[in-house]
Amino acid sequence: MLILGIETSCDDTGISVIRVSEKKRPVFEILSNVVSSQIKTHAPFGGVVPNLAAREHLKNIEPCLKTALKEANVKMHETRLPARQVDLVAVTYGPGLIPSLLIGVNFAKALAYKYKKPIIGINHIEAHIVAAFSGENSKFEIRNSKFPIIALVVSGGHTQLVLVKKIGNYKIIGETRDDAAGECFDKVAKLLNLGYPGGPAISREAEKWKSQFSISNFQLPRPMISHKNYDFSFSGLKTAVLYLVEKLAVRSSRKNKPRISNLEPNIVSELCHEAQQAIIDVLILKTINAAKEYQAKTIILAGGVAANSELRKQFELKMKNEKLKTDFLVPPMSLCTDNGAMIAIAAYFNRKKIKSSNWKTIKADANLRLS
Ligand code: KG4
Ligand code: ZN
Repeated sequence: MLILGIETSCDDTGISVIRVSEKKRPVFEILSNVVSSQIKTHAPFGGVVPNLAAREHLKNIEPCLKTALKEANVKMHETRLPARQVDLVAVTYGPGLIPSLLIGVNFAKALAYKYKKPIIGINHIEAHIVAAFSGENSKFEIRNSKFPIIALVVSGGHTQLVLVKKIGNYKIIGETRDDAAGECFDKVAKLLNLGYPGGPAISREAEKWKSQFSISNFQLPRPMISHKNYDFSFSGLKTAVLYLVEKLAVRSSRKNKPRISNLEPNIVSELCHEAQQAIIDVLILKTINAAKEYQAKTIILAGGVAANSELRKQFELKMKNEKLKTDFLVPPMSLCTDNGAMIAIAAYFNRKKIKSSNWKTIKADANLRLS
């Protein structure tokens, strides 16, 4: 079965072709996974501008499709080799930015209609979760996973703790009340003039500081860490960094106007280290508490922020220290941030939902919830 996965929920245009061979256990092969990034477009604004994102998706989606099909050596329409034809079109229909989602959904519907292919709508959060079942290589069997699972999905738009009883059965047990963890990385990076996206920039700075020093002089809050629930809040952390930066900038500017550019590079790295650590502390503690309460057999860490190597490392360390006998699954780096392959993988697990009427009924839904 050849599945075309289309992802346009935020600022990455992702198109992928995967092959699933149904043997005793399904074998997945990622034949292509093209991602056109819009970093340059959004960088001057320090965050994603929805209408600009939609404009870029519109420009990039067709070239991405052509490249993804070519790399996979696959066609949309009939060829003499049926094994080389796309069998199913899968598209993210939510949650996400509505102008961005609309481009992907309408493009996918037009493809499905034109080439008479079945189509299926995929929940973006579910796709992030199932990406964690992938192997490191492009050809893999789904990793053995024991249920129930506690999945932490941390991205630019979402921070959710999800109880997964089985694939397709989800319960959100906690989520952010304001900014997502990735958004916090992006906003802190913006106020420190580190560019967009903030996550990788903050992580690089934090690493620099950690390689030279050990104990930070700064103490930022760990929001909601001792609340007896699984919700998060990251907007106060960003504000705490802002106040600290203003104080430090005044101190270092003496007679000049206080400016962030007056801050010494070591101070900026230290701030990044402390902000990153504050986010990591909250994410890990809440996830491990949830895993204990729900007697999870597996913890999944997924979404763009899962690409943070310090977060991955500290998760494993904490689980070891707590003697948790829980498996830990993280997607390979290439499947952490938004991409079409995770949409195609999720489509395989949802294949029973394929209906001939799908292309008429699928609608972009910015606030789509897992259930
Ligand atoms: O999943 P994703 O690609 O898009 C959404 O669904 O939102 O996540 C993007 C987010 C951005 O906020 C970005 O700063 C963050 O993931 N991110 C990271 C890292 N790489 C990407 N955050 C922390 N450390 C990283 N290495
Ligand atoms: Zn995402």
